[in-house]
Amino acid sequence: MHYQKHILITGGAGFIGSHVVRLFVNRYPQYRIVNLDALTYAGNLENLTDIENQPNYVFTHTNLLNPQALAAVLEQFTITDVVHLAAESHVDRSILSPLDFVYTNIIGTVNLLQAAKVYWNGQYEGKRFYHISTDEVYGALGDTGFFTETTPYQPHSPYSASKASSDHFVRAYADTYGLPTIISNCSNNYGPFHFPEKLIPLFINNIIERKPLPVYGDGLYTRDWLFVKDHATAIDVVFHRGKLHDTYNIGGFNEWRNIDLVKLLCQLMDEKLGRPAGESAELITYVKDRPGHDRRYAIDATKINAELGWAPSVTFEEGLAQTIDWYLANTPWLQRVTSGVYQQYYKTQYA
Ligand code: NAD
Ligand code: TYD
Repeated sequence: MHYQKHILITGGAGFIGSHVVRLFVNRYPQYRIVNLDALTYAGNLENLTDIENQPNYVFTHTNLLNPQALAAVLEQFTITDVVHLAAESHVDRSILSPLDFVYTNIIGTVNLLQAAKVYWNGQYEGKRFYHISTDEVYGALGDTGFFTETTPYQPHSPYSASKASSDHFVRAYADTYGLPTIISNCSNNYGPFHFPEKLIPLFINNIIERKPLPVYGDGLYTRDWLFVKDHATAIDVVFHRGKLHDTYNIGGFNEWRNIDLVKLLCQLMDEKLGRPAGESAELITYVKDRPGHDRRYAIDATKINAELGWAPSVTFEEGLAQTIDWYLANTPWLQRVTSGVYQQYYKTQYA
Protein backbone atom coordinates (compact mmCIF):
# COMPACT_ATOMS: atom_id res chain seq x y z
CA MET A 1 0.00 0.00 0.00
CA HIS A 2 1.29 3.44 -0.89
CA TYR A 3 0.37 5.87 1.87
CA GLN A 4 -0.09 9.58 1.23
CA LYS A 5 1.28 10.47 4.65
CA HIS A 6 3.08 8.61 7.45
CA ILE A 7 1.91 10.37 10.60
CA LEU A 8 3.59 9.90 13.96
CA ILE A 9 1.10 10.46 16.78
CA THR A 10 2.80 10.54 20.18
CA GLY A 11 0.88 9.69 23.35
CA GLY A 12 -1.69 7.76 21.34
CA ALA A 13 -2.32 5.31 24.17
CA GLY A 14 -3.41 8.13 26.48
CA PHE A 15 -6.76 9.83 26.86
CA ILE A 16 -6.87 12.43 24.06
CA GLY A 17 -4.26 10.64 21.93
CA SER A 18 -6.38 7.50 21.70
CA HIS A 19 -9.32 9.51 20.33
CA VAL A 20 -7.05 11.24 17.80
CA VAL A 21 -5.51 7.92 16.69
CA ARG A 22 -8.97 6.35 16.30
CA LEU A 23 -10.29 9.30 14.30
CA PHE A 24 -7.29 9.42 11.95
CA VAL A 25 -7.07 5.63 11.44
CA ASN A 26 -10.77 5.38 10.59
CA ARG A 27 -11.18 8.58 8.61
CA TYR A 28 -7.94 8.42 6.58
CA PRO A 29 -7.16 4.94 5.24
CA GLN A 30 -4.75 6.71 2.86
CA TYR A 31 -2.52 7.67 5.84
CA ARG A 32 -0.44 5.31 7.92
CA ILE A 33 -0.75 6.17 11.61
CA VAL A 34 2.22 5.34 13.82
CA ASN A 35 1.34 5.55 17.51
CA LEU A 36 4.39 6.18 19.68
CA ASP A 37 3.89 5.77 23.40
CA ALA A 38 6.01 4.83 26.42
CA LEU A 39 2.96 3.32 28.18
CA THR A 40 3.36 5.14 31.49
CA TYR A 41 0.63 4.74 34.13
CA ALA A 42 -1.57 6.92 31.84
CA GLY A 43 -0.97 4.96 28.65
CA ASN A 44 -3.19 1.99 27.96
CA LEU A 45 -3.40 0.01 24.72
CA GLU A 46 -6.81 -1.24 25.85
CA ASN A 47 -8.02 2.22 24.75
CA LEU A 48 -7.41 1.19 21.12
CA THR A 49 -8.54 -2.44 20.81
CA ASP A 50 -11.22 -1.47 18.25
CA ILE A 51 -8.64 -0.22 15.72
CA GLU A 52 -5.47 -2.12 16.63
CA ASN A 53 -5.79 -4.54 13.70
CA GLN A 54 -6.45 -1.92 11.02
CA PRO A 55 -3.86 -2.16 8.22
CA ASN A 56 -2.97 1.54 8.43
CA TYR A 57 -2.18 1.44 12.18
CA VAL A 58 1.03 0.52 13.93
CA PHE A 59 2.19 0.90 17.53
CA THR A 60 5.73 1.52 18.71
CA HIS A 61 6.64 1.24 22.38
CA THR A 62 9.15 4.09 22.53
CA ASN A 63 10.08 6.74 25.08
CA LEU A 64 10.57 10.41 24.14
CA LEU A 65 13.57 10.40 26.44
CA ASN A 66 15.47 8.06 24.13
CA PRO A 67 16.74 10.21 21.22
CA GLN A 68 18.34 7.30 19.35
CA ALA A 69 15.08 5.38 19.43
CA LEU A 70 13.16 8.45 18.20
CA ALA A 71 15.52 8.90 15.27
CA ALA A 72 15.13 5.21 14.40
CA VAL A 73 11.30 5.42 14.49
CA LEU A 74 11.21 8.43 12.16
CA GLU A 75 13.46 6.66 9.72
CA GLN A 76 11.86 3.20 9.97
CA PHE A 77 8.36 4.56 9.37
CA THR A 78 9.40 7.32 6.92
CA ILE A 79 7.51 9.88 9.00
CA THR A 80 6.13 12.85 7.07
CA ASP A 81 4.14 14.51 9.89
CA VAL A 82 4.08 14.60 13.68
CA VAL A 83 1.10 15.17 15.99
CA HIS A 84 2.66 15.45 19.44
CA LEU A 85 0.42 14.69 22.41
CA ALA A 86 2.66 12.59 24.70
CA ALA A 87 3.12 14.35 28.02
CA GLU A 88 2.83 14.11 31.74
CA SER A 89 -0.56 15.74 32.05
CA HIS A 90 -1.81 15.92 35.66
CA VAL A 91 -1.31 19.12 37.70
CA ASP A 92 -1.44 17.36 41.10
CA ARG A 93 1.26 14.88 40.04
CA SER A 94 3.37 17.81 38.80
CA ILE A 95 3.20 19.26 42.32
CA LEU A 96 4.35 15.91 43.78
CA SER A 97 7.08 15.20 41.15
CA PRO A 98 7.94 18.25 39.01
CA LEU A 99 11.05 16.71 37.45
CA ASP A 100 9.04 14.03 35.64
CA PHE A 101 7.32 16.92 33.84
CA VAL A 102 10.60 18.62 32.99
CA TYR A 103 11.92 15.38 31.50
CA THR A 104 8.95 14.30 29.40
CA ASN A 105 7.31 17.61 28.54
CA ILE A 106 10.39 19.74 27.94
CA ILE A 107 13.29 17.42 27.16
CA GLY A 108 11.04 14.86 25.47
CA THR A 109 9.58 17.55 23.22
CA VAL A 110 13.01 18.94 22.34
CA ASN A 111 14.20 15.40 21.56
CA LEU A 112 11.28 15.01 19.17
CA LEU A 113 11.83 18.42 17.54
CA GLN A 114 15.50 17.60 17.06
CA ALA A 115 14.73 14.16 15.61
CA ALA A 116 12.28 15.70 13.11
CA LYS A 117 14.74 18.45 12.19
CA VAL A 118 17.54 15.95 11.56
CA TYR A 119 15.36 13.42 9.72
CA TRP A 120 13.62 15.99 7.51
CA ASN A 121 16.93 17.75 6.92
CA GLY A 122 15.41 20.97 5.56
CA GLN A 123 13.00 19.16 3.22
CA TYR A 124 9.90 20.67 4.85
CA GLU A 125 7.57 20.81 1.86
CA GLY A 126 4.24 19.15 2.74
CA LYS A 127 5.42 18.30 6.26
CA ARG A 128 4.04 19.36 9.60
CA PHE A 129 5.06 19.21 13.26
CA TYR A 130 1.86 19.78 15.22
CA HIS A 131 2.27 20.33 18.96
CA ILE A 132 -0.76 19.86 21.23
CA SER A 133 -0.80 22.21 24.21
CA THR A 134 -3.06 23.54 26.90
CA ASP A 135 -4.76 26.80 27.91
CA GLU A 136 -3.02 26.48 31.29
CA VAL A 137 0.12 28.12 29.81
CA TYR A 138 -1.76 31.44 29.88
CA GLY A 139 -2.13 31.37 33.68
CA ALA A 140 -5.31 32.26 35.52
CA LEU A 141 -8.18 34.66 34.80
CA GLY A 142 -10.26 36.73 37.21
CA ASP A 143 -14.05 36.79 36.99
CA THR A 144 -14.07 38.15 33.42
CA GLY A 145 -12.13 37.89 30.16
CA PHE A 146 -10.83 35.10 27.96
CA PHE A 147 -7.52 33.65 26.84
CA THR A 148 -6.81 34.53 23.20
CA GLU A 149 -3.92 33.35 21.04
CA THR A 150 -1.97 36.49 21.98
CA THR A 151 -2.45 36.34 25.76
CA PRO A 152 1.03 36.39 27.36
CA TYR A 153 2.21 33.16 28.95
CA GLN A 154 2.05 33.12 32.75
CA PRO A 155 2.04 29.50 33.93
CA HIS A 156 1.76 28.73 37.65
CA SER A 157 2.01 24.96 38.13
CA PRO A 158 5.00 22.77 37.27
CA TYR A 159 2.71 21.13 34.67
CA SER A 160 1.77 24.38 32.94
CA ALA A 161 5.34 25.72 33.23
CA SER A 162 6.63 22.60 31.48
CA LYS A 163 3.99 22.86 28.73
CA ALA A 164 4.77 26.59 28.29
CA SER A 165 8.44 25.74 27.95
CA SER A 166 7.68 23.06 25.35
CA ASP A 167 5.57 25.57 23.36
CA HIS A 168 8.49 28.02 23.41
CA PHE A 169 10.85 25.34 22.10
CA VAL A 170 8.43 24.49 19.28
CA ARG A 171 8.36 28.17 18.23
CA ALA A 172 12.14 28.38 18.62
CA TYR A 173 12.57 25.46 16.20
CA ALA A 174 10.29 27.24 13.72
CA ASP A 175 12.08 30.59 14.06
CA THR A 176 15.60 29.19 14.12
CA TYR A 177 15.47 26.21 11.77
CA GLY A 178 12.26 26.82 9.82
CA LEU A 179 10.61 23.64 11.15
CA PRO A 180 7.00 23.56 9.84
CA THR A 181 5.31 23.82 13.24
CA ILE A 182 1.80 24.56 14.40
CA ILE A 183 0.41 24.71 17.96
CA SER A 184 -3.04 24.50 19.50
CA ASN A 185 -3.96 25.26 23.10
CA CYS A 186 -7.09 23.55 24.36
CA SER A 187 -9.26 23.86 27.46
CA ASN A 188 -10.09 20.98 29.86
CA ASN A 189 -11.23 17.80 28.09
CA TYR A 190 -13.61 15.14 29.37
CA GLY A 191 -15.01 11.92 27.92
CA PRO A 192 -14.41 8.16 27.60
CA PHE A 193 -10.96 6.72 28.47
CA HIS A 194 -10.13 9.64 30.78
CA PHE A 195 -7.78 8.45 33.52
CA PRO A 196 -9.58 8.67 36.90
CA GLU A 197 -7.13 11.09 38.49
CA LYS A 198 -8.73 14.14 36.81
CA LEU A 199 -11.87 15.72 38.28
CA ILE A 200 -14.68 14.20 36.18
CA PRO A 201 -13.57 10.54 35.91
CA LEU A 202 -12.26 10.53 39.50
CA PHE A 203 -15.63 11.72 40.78
CA ILE A 204 -17.57 9.27 38.56
CA ASN A 205 -15.48 6.43 39.97
CA ASN A 206 -15.89 7.64 43.56
CA ILE A 207 -19.65 8.02 43.14
CA ILE A 208 -19.87 4.45 41.82
CA GLU A 209 -17.85 3.29 44.84
CA ARG A 210 -19.63 5.63 47.28
CA LYS A 211 -16.33 7.25 48.26
CA PRO A 212 -15.92 10.93 49.30
CA LEU A 213 -15.77 13.51 46.48
CA PRO A 214 -12.78 15.72 47.40
CA VAL A 215 -13.57 19.28 46.26
CA TYR A 216 -10.47 21.49 46.58
CA GLY A 217 -10.75 24.78 48.47
CA ASP A 218 -14.05 26.64 48.16
CA GLY A 219 -15.08 24.76 44.99
CA LEU A 220 -15.54 28.05 43.12
CA TYR A 221 -12.69 27.47 40.67
CA THR A 222 -13.85 27.61 37.06
CA ARG A 223 -12.87 25.42 34.11
CA ASP A 224 -13.96 25.49 30.44
CA TRP A 225 -14.91 21.92 29.45
CA LEU A 226 -14.74 20.37 25.97
CA PHE A 227 -15.83 16.87 24.94
CA VAL A 228 -12.72 14.93 23.93
CA LYS A 229 -14.12 13.86 20.54
CA ASP A 230 -14.63 17.53 19.70
CA HIS A 231 -10.98 18.20 20.57
CA ALA A 232 -10.02 15.36 18.22
CA THR A 233 -12.03 16.88 15.34
CA ALA A 234 -10.43 20.27 16.06
CA ILE A 235 -6.99 18.63 15.85
CA ASP A 236 -7.98 17.08 12.51
CA VAL A 237 -9.05 20.48 11.18
CA VAL A 238 -5.95 22.33 12.43
CA PHE A 239 -3.68 19.55 11.14
CA HIS A 240 -5.15 19.77 7.66
CA ARG A 241 -6.07 23.42 7.30
CA GLY A 242 -4.33 25.40 10.04
CA LYS A 243 -1.80 28.03 8.94
CA LEU A 244 1.80 26.94 9.36
CA HIS A 245 3.62 28.58 12.32
CA ASP A 246 0.28 29.74 13.70
CA THR A 247 -1.52 29.07 17.01
CA TYR A 248 -5.16 28.09 17.55
CA ASN A 249 -7.07 28.15 20.83
CA ILE A 250 -9.63 25.35 21.15
CA GLY A 251 -12.58 25.50 23.52
CA GLY A 252 -16.33 25.30 23.70
CA PHE A 253 -17.32 28.50 25.57
CA ASN A 254 -18.48 26.16 28.32
CA GLU A 255 -17.46 27.40 31.75
CA TRP A 256 -18.44 25.62 34.93
CA ARG A 257 -17.59 26.30 38.54
CA ASN A 258 -16.30 23.04 40.01
CA ILE A 259 -19.02 22.79 42.63
CA ASP A 260 -21.82 23.32 40.09
CA LEU A 261 -20.31 20.70 37.79
CA VAL A 262 -19.96 18.24 40.67
CA LYS A 263 -23.60 18.79 41.70
CA LEU A 264 -24.77 18.17 38.12
CA LEU A 265 -22.64 15.04 37.96
CA CYS A 266 -24.11 13.78 41.25
CA GLN A 267 -27.64 14.38 39.98
CA LEU A 268 -27.03 12.57 36.67
CA MET A 269 -25.28 9.68 38.43
CA ASP A 270 -28.15 9.26 40.90
CA GLU A 271 -30.57 9.03 37.94
CA LYS A 272 -28.40 6.58 35.99
CA LEU A 273 -27.62 4.39 39.01
CA GLY A 274 -31.23 4.41 40.21
CA ARG A 275 -30.21 5.94 43.54
CA PRO A 276 -32.45 8.34 45.49
CA ALA A 277 -32.04 11.99 44.44
CA GLY A 278 -29.41 13.71 46.60
CA GLU A 279 -27.58 10.54 47.66
CA SER A 280 -24.35 11.18 45.69
CA ALA A 281 -24.22 14.86 46.65
CA GLU A 282 -23.84 13.76 50.27
CA LEU A 283 -20.41 12.45 49.30
CA ILE A 284 -19.16 15.99 48.52
CA THR A 285 -16.31 16.79 50.91
CA TYR A 286 -14.38 20.06 50.89
CA VAL A 287 -10.66 19.38 51.29
CA LYS A 288 -7.43 21.37 51.46
CA ASP A 289 -6.84 23.47 48.36
CA ARG A 290 -4.33 22.67 45.62
CA PRO A 291 -1.27 24.96 46.01
CA GLY A 292 -1.05 27.63 43.27
CA HIS A 293 -4.58 26.71 42.14
CA ASP A 294 -5.57 28.71 39.02
CA ARG A 295 -8.89 30.43 39.70
CA ARG A 296 -10.41 30.43 36.25
CA TYR A 297 -9.68 29.28 32.70
CA ALA A 298 -11.75 30.37 29.71
CA ILE A 299 -10.84 30.06 26.05
CA ASP A 300 -11.80 32.49 23.33
CA ALA A 301 -12.26 30.05 20.43
CA THR A 302 -13.32 32.70 17.91
CA LYS A 303 -10.29 32.27 15.64
CA ILE A 304 -10.60 28.53 14.98
CA ASN A 305 -14.30 29.00 14.35
CA ALA A 306 -13.89 31.98 12.02
CA GLU A 307 -10.82 30.75 10.11
CA LEU A 308 -11.36 27.00 10.03
CA GLY A 309 -15.10 26.66 10.65
CA TRP A 310 -14.66 24.34 13.63
CA ALA A 311 -17.23 24.24 16.44
CA PRO A 312 -18.05 21.65 19.12
CA SER A 313 -20.66 19.06 18.12
CA VAL A 314 -22.23 18.29 21.49
CA THR A 315 -23.53 20.31 24.41
CA PHE A 316 -22.02 19.73 27.84
CA GLU A 317 -25.15 17.95 29.04
CA GLU A 318 -24.99 15.52 26.08
CA GLY A 319 -21.26 14.97 26.41
CA LEU A 320 -21.45 14.41 30.14
CA ALA A 321 -24.34 11.94 29.77
CA GLN A 322 -22.37 10.02 27.09
CA THR A 323 -19.32 10.03 29.35
CA ILE A 324 -21.19 8.67 32.35
CA ASP A 325 -22.81 5.98 30.18
CA TRP A 326 -19.39 4.95 28.91
CA TYR A 327 -17.95 4.61 32.43
CA LEU A 328 -20.97 2.64 33.63
CA ALA A 329 -20.65 0.30 30.63
CA ASN A 330 -16.89 -0.09 31.14
CA THR A 331 -16.47 -0.77 34.84
CA PRO A 332 -13.86 -3.51 34.16
CA TRP A 333 -11.67 -0.85 32.44
CA LEU A 334 -12.18 1.42 35.44
CA GLN A 335 -11.34 -1.39 37.87
CA ARG A 336 -8.19 -2.34 36.00
CA VAL A 337 -6.80 1.20 35.80
CA THR A 338 -7.58 1.92 39.47
CA SER A 339 -5.91 -1.20 40.86
CA GLY A 340 -2.21 -1.41 41.68
CA VAL A 341 -0.16 1.79 41.59
CA TYR A 342 -3.25 3.99 41.37
CA GLN A 343 -4.05 3.11 44.98
CA GLN A 344 -0.65 4.37 46.09
CA TYR A 345 -1.14 7.67 44.22
CA TYR A 346 -4.61 8.07 45.71
CA LYS A 347 -3.28 7.60 49.26
CA THR A 348 -0.46 10.11 48.70
CA GLN A 349 -2.71 12.73 47.10
CA TYR A 350 -5.82 12.46 49.28
CA ALA A 351 -4.40 11.26 52.64
P1 NAD B 1 -2.63 11.44 29.22
O1 NAD B 1 -1.84 11.60 30.48
O2 NAD B 1 -3.94 10.73 29.26
O3 NAD B 1 -1.74 10.65 28.13
C1 NAD B 1 -0.39 10.93 27.93
C2 NAD B 1 0.21 9.81 27.11
O4 NAD B 1 1.61 10.12 26.90
C3 NAD B 1 0.17 8.44 27.79
O5 NAD B 1 -0.27 7.45 26.89
C4 NAD B 1 1.60 8.19 28.21
O6 NAD B 1 1.96 6.82 28.23
C5 NAD B 1 2.38 8.96 27.14
N1 NAD B 1 3.71 9.38 27.61
C6 NAD B 1 4.00 10.00 28.78
N2 NAD B 1 5.33 10.18 28.89
C7 NAD B 1 5.88 9.68 27.75
C8 NAD B 1 7.21 9.59 27.27
N3 NAD B 1 8.26 10.03 27.99
N4 NAD B 1 7.42 9.04 26.06
C9 NAD B 1 6.38 8.57 25.32
N5 NAD B 1 5.10 8.61 25.73
C10 NAD B 1 4.85 9.15 26.93
O7 NAD B 1 -2.76 12.90 28.61
P2 NAD B 1 -3.98 13.58 27.84
O8 NAD B 1 -4.92 14.12 28.83
O9 NAD B 1 -4.46 12.66 26.80
O10 NAD B 1 -3.23 14.81 27.17
C11 NAD B 1 -2.61 14.68 25.88
C12 NAD B 1 -1.98 16.01 25.50
O11 NAD B 1 -2.97 17.01 25.43
C13 NAD B 1 -0.93 16.51 26.49
O12 NAD B 1 0.13 17.09 25.76
C14 NAD B 1 -1.66 17.55 27.30
O13 NAD B 1 -0.78 18.54 27.80
C15 NAD B 1 -2.62 18.11 26.26
N6 NAD B 1 -3.88 18.67 26.80
C16 NAD B 1 -4.64 17.94 27.66
C17 NAD B 1 -5.85 18.46 28.12
C18 NAD B 1 -6.76 17.67 29.04
O14 NAD B 1 -7.78 18.20 29.49
N7 NAD B 1 -6.48 16.41 29.33
C19 NAD B 1 -6.26 19.73 27.70
C20 NAD B 1 -5.45 20.45 26.82
C21 NAD B 1 -4.26 19.90 26.37
P1 TYD C 1 -8.24 18.64 36.91
O1 TYD C 1 -9.18 17.66 36.34
O2 TYD C 1 -7.04 18.14 37.69
O3 TYD C 1 -7.76 19.58 35.70
P2 TYD C 1 -6.88 20.95 35.73
O4 TYD C 1 -6.27 21.13 37.06
O5 TYD C 1 -5.84 20.64 34.69
O6 TYD C 1 -7.82 22.02 35.34
O7 TYD C 1 -9.02 19.63 37.86
C1 TYD C 1 -10.13 20.37 37.40
C2 TYD C 1 -10.60 21.26 38.54
O8 TYD C 1 -11.11 20.42 39.59
C3 TYD C 1 -9.47 22.07 39.17
O9 TYD C 1 -10.00 23.33 39.58
C4 TYD C 1 -9.08 21.27 40.39
C5 TYD C 1 -10.39 20.62 40.82
N1 TYD C 1 -10.26 19.30 41.50
C6 TYD C 1 -10.87 19.08 42.73
O10 TYD C 1 -11.52 19.97 43.30
N2 TYD C 1 -10.71 17.84 43.32
C7 TYD C 1 -9.99 16.84 42.74
O11 TYD C 1 -9.87 15.74 43.34
C8 TYD C 1 -9.39 17.07 41.46
C9 TYD C 1 -8.60 16.00 40.77
C10 TYD C 1 -9.56 18.32 40.87
